[in-house]
Amino acid sequence: MDVDVVGRVLSTLPEDDDHPYRTGPWRPQTTEWRADDLTVVGEIPADLDGVYLRNTENPVHPALERYHPFDGDGMVHVIGFRDGKAFYRNRFVRTDGFLLEAEAGKPLWAGIAERPATSPREDGWGARGRMKDASSTDVIVHAGVALTSFYQCGDLYRLDPLTLETLGKAGWGGDFPYACGVSAHTKVDPRTGELLFFNYGTDEPYMHYGVVGADDRLSHYVDIPLPGPRLPHDMAFTENYAILNDCPMFWEPELMARGRYAARFHPELPTRLGVIPRKGTKVQWFEADPTYVLHWVNAYEDGDEIVLDGFFQDDPEPKDTGDGGYYQRMFRFLALDRMQTRLHRWRLNLVTGQCREERLTDSITEFGVLNSAFGGLDYRYAYAATGVEGWFLFDGLVRHDLRTGAEDRFALPPGVYGSEPAMAPRNGSSAEDDGYIVTLTTDMNDDRSECLIFDAARIADGPIARIALPERVSSGTHATWATGDSIPGWRAADSPVQALRL
Ligand SMILES: [Fe+2]
Repeated sequence: MDVDVVGRVLSTLPEDDDHPYRTGPWRPQTTEWRADDLTVVGEIPADLDGVYLRNTENPVHPALERYHPFDGDGMVHVIGFRDGKAFYRNRFVRTDGFLLEAEAGKPLWAGIAERPATSPREDGWGARGRMKDASSTDVIVHAGVALTSFYQCGDLYRLDPLTLETLGKAGWGGDFPYACGVSAHTKVDPRTGELLFFNYGTDEPYMHYGVVGADDRLSHYVDIPLPGPRLPHDMAFTENYAILNDCPMFWEPELMARGRYAARFHPELPTRLGVIPRKGTKVQWFEADPTYVLHWVNAYEDGDEIVLDGFFQDDPEPKDTGDGGYYQRMFRFLALDRMQTRLHRWRLNLVTGQCREERLTDSITEFGVLNSAFGGLDYRYAYAATGVEGWFLFDGLVRHDLRTGAEDRFALPPGVYGSEPAMAPRNGSSAEDDGYIVTLTTDMNDDRSECLIFDAARIADGPIARIALPERVSSGTHATWATGDSIPGWRAADSPVQALRL
């Protein structure tokens, strides 16, 4: 392995930190690495061609009062594969908030679990305002550039998908909705090159939906009126429609009036699913059983119906059972077993206006992905993560066969945690399951991280290659795969490493 330290960031976190989401498998990194020609156990397939990008929460400064695991500064990791070789980079996302806090040497904004009024600064980002846009939640690639985003809306930061250099913010031809920002979970349709997005906030109409063309310009932006402030996290799309949601879990209005932002579940209200033509203005709303859906997997059209798959939560607001320490109890609603997240299918009939729904499995999984070439189309396979009891940590992978119900599983060893998987289609493949599953591990037993590559059709067989990273990486939230063909300069060089130097 050819490795260099290329940057270090000064952390002001306490040395005796006891926050479980800033220590152990969530220990933030402060070092930025360049590593080429990585050491491999097994063999990197020659037809694995592209980059796995993963965003993580890496707090540099302590919270004002209470750190929430989603407050941390964004750090993106890239591991790229070409011609059977791999390279790795990691870089902080140089957001405005990150740079201002670096200058101040301390936190300047209140986090998700804190009151906005305690923010030292009057300005800020986020659906509720006066929050730092950490850009640490999600990452996708659109128009050849990686875009990072923040959980509760903010700017989209543009990163070079190979070097991870922060290039600035998405501007969309001067029409970026800076006032509301953009939520995590923008969606890219690989057939049209369009990016679909939504945002939400505390002012009417409470939500907007928009489309950005393959030319990186805003082409559509409409109001989505809701009954009040809501907390949607993800959206879905088909060939002709976008699907938005109004789940009955939202900030308690009485607390909001007193400057506190705490989400409560309302089982007496339905889940509302909104279908809008991708370039349309009118939403058709459907009512479904009350739940909260953090993530959808995919949607497609089937005659008069939209088929929508996602993770139904049986218990969106888990009770405090008194088990575990202060922080484990506080963040119990991030543990998959506490939320009871199960793959679920909604069928929305555009003619009758009726919604039928069914549970697809009894297994608890979340963070589901698919072969993105099948995004918006009828598909068969979803690849998802399993969770550690009581914690926001992933301990294995499952391939759900949605046609047969079969599940192909791989469990990581105790003390080893995974990241959100990504499906990497084999170069030149057309079959949905013909490719690889890529994930990063955080190994607390050996204090290291690896990138694992699985044959997507044979996950239970275990990884076909394990690639050592220079340092143990923190747990985090979302990841993505981008094919080499979608990255400018990828083919212009003799190797990805050379592409980095062009
Ligand atoms: Fe998410």
